[in-house]
Amino acid sequence: MSNHAVGVVGAGYVGLTTAACVASFGRRVTCVDSDAAKVDALNRAEVTIDEPGLQSLVAQGLADRRLRFTTELPAVAGCSRIFLCLPTPKGDHGGADLRAVESVLAQLTGLLRHGSVLVTKSTVPVGTAERLERAIARSDVRVVSNPEFLREGSAVHDFLHPERIVIGASDPAAADTVAELYDHLQAPVVTTGPSSAELAKYASNAFLAMKVSYANLLAELCERLGADIGDVTRTMGLDSRIGPAFLAPGPGWGGSCLPKDTAALLHTARGAGAECSLVRDTVEVNSRQRSRMVAKVRFAVTGSPTGSLRGVRLGLLGLTFKAGTADLRDSPALAVAEQLAEAGAVLTGYDPAVPPSRTDRVGEVRTVDDPYLVAKGAAGIVLLTEWPHFRELDWAQMAAVAEQPVLVDTRNLLDAQALSDAGIHRVGVGTP
Ligand code: UGA
Repeated sequence: MSNHAVGVVGAGYVGLTTAACVASFGRRVTCVDSDAAKVDALNRAEVTIDEPGLQSLVAQGLADRRLRFTTELPAVAGCSRIFLCLPTPKGDHGGADLRAVESVLAQLTGLLRHGSVLVTKSTVPVGTAERLERAIARSDVRVVSNPEFLREGSAVHDFLHPERIVIGASDPAAADTVAELYDHLQAPVVTTGPSSAELAKYASNAFLAMKVSYANLLAELCERLGADIGDVTRTMGLDSRIGPAFLAPGPGWGGSCLPKDTAALLHTARGAGAECSLVRDTVEVNSRQRSRMVAKVRFAVTGSPTGSLRGVRLGLLGLTFKAGTADLRDSPALAVAEQLAEAGAVLTGYDPAVPPSRTDRVGEVRTVDDPYLVAKGAAGIVLLTEWPHFRELDWAQMAAVAEQPVLVDTRNLLDAQALSDAGIHRVGVGTP
């Protein structure tokens, strides 16, 4: 096994997870980030990203002197493998903005040691590895695509127990250099050309988005036809060719990845002259789903599809884009909240991961630290994120403090009978 140190550029959610996990494999890892305050905190083992297991891996890596953090980009130039874990946000026209990657590359190129391999870990447009290799213009330096498939809330677990490892390289020796890092993990390694690896990442995220949009489309159909989405998706999910995951209806998919990656795939397809209407519809269904939730709330609270929400007090349960994370980026909960606010509703919200000590407002929502305060005086409660502990709330108490005991459960999380027993009129998604 090679002893050569590994470099990681970027200490965000992907970079920090990569650095801490690779250090746990026994490698020496240098992780560089331009944010000096973050680097200082990380060197004290203070991790602000809320990922199970991450803080202890960072602390262990620091204690074993295998992991270090620095703001000095040249500190990674001597490493044999350098992971690029930089943000690639949605740029103009839906394509990914690669400026962070390009700037780092421009600074590193002349400093890289002979034979080093740059590894793109964060999601980058198809063709990036080949483009970067051309930009570096050094025959001794290779760029390999090794996309991450980490879910927020279980990133460390996903890194240590991957379902597949994809290594996209034009040079077999460079592919081996990267594969060697993972050789003790029990996972199939798919070795491909760089473009296939890059596309496989977009293809996976777009497919997940498509599955959820399909479930949301079926939920709408269920409401019109008097069927139950839970029964329909349970039946579908038992077919091993379909599988049960990503069939839960809700307020639409969100987060920092699926929206960005579907947009980027559409952008890439357009650039390649390909028709990608299936993905376009996936995005379109998602945006309609948010408006559908607003219409549901309007009807449940006012009793009319055109009833006014002006000045109506609504309580929101959940603000993050899914349970198990504090991430509010591209949260469907906030998209629904924004439309409710536009309609004139006055919003109070509670989320266990967003305490008011962090902020007393999230967009249009005044945040409180107690779910019962959300119900107090509300003409309706809207559950937007599937935090399991919402099931344990005292619903009779929620009903007692509400002005009107009406609840729209956009995640179908709560037991309809329990709510009915508590005197609450519950409206779900895709149920008759
Ligand atoms: C997603 C992918 O699942 C990861 O494999 C990928 O590595 C990651 O993006 C990335 O590109 O970095 P993540 O953004 O953490 O991970 O979120 P997901 O768990 O995929 O959830 C995305 C959205 O879909 C959430 O808003 C969630 O509530 C929604 N969803 C998910 C549903 O509405 N229904 C479902 O059945 C499943």
